Amino acid sequence: MKGGIRSTENSGPTEWFQNERIWKTRFQPELWEEAPEQVDKILQLLDLQGTAKILDLCCGEGRHSLELALRGHEVTGVDLSERNLSEAREKAAEADLEIDFVQEDMRDYYTQETFDVALNLGTSFGYFEYERENTKVIENIYSSLRSGGKFLLEHIGKEVWQGPFRRGSGMKWMGATC
Ligand SMILES: C[S@@+](CC[C@H](N)C(=O)[O-])C[C@H]1O[C@@H](n2cnc3c(N)ncnc32)[C@H](O)[C@@H]1O
Repeated sequence: MKGGIRSTENSGPTEWFQNERIWKTRFQPELWEEAPEQVDKILQLLDLQGTAKILDLCCGEGRHSLELALRGHEVTGVDLSERNLSEAREKAAEADLEIDFVQEDMRDYYTQETFDVALNLGTSFGYFEYERENTKVIENIYSSLRSGGKFLLEHIGKEVWQGPFRRGSGMKWMGATC
């Protein structure tokens, strides 16, 4: 079934992922250092013939978008956070790379059969309260891909993710301490 659905079902302006502070602390240098190798592996896995039109959905500060553009791919990075996007734009300009960075909610963003590849990296999926909202993201990705296009989703497994949040660890999240 082709065609995205546009009527975003936002649960309000204060959803946790709209909190810029969460993302500000996330993109540490170590994370940036991982990106070149990750992109090499991603491209190997995707087995692309030549350069491609790539959607980096939830691109953050653009660590993968930049690496993809450096390798000659035509990249569109989409993210909800104006802060993250302005960092991404600044870094792209410094590197003299042309990347289309778009501010939009992943529940709303779709194009019609535009991309050869869609990426959703760094555990950027499953953020929404209602399963139908997460499903809509997948439908939008499907609509945005050309026939034969490829979608790669990278997600930390819940067993790994819960490690730092074990009781008594002192880990802080959204004002609460474990
Ligand atoms: C865990 S970060 C990963 C960023 C990037 N993919 C990376 O690996 O560096 C998740 C990103 O998703 C963005 N985001 C959160 N909710 C979103 C939404 N509803 N629509 C679009 N982007 C969203 C955040 O602003 C953040 O940049």
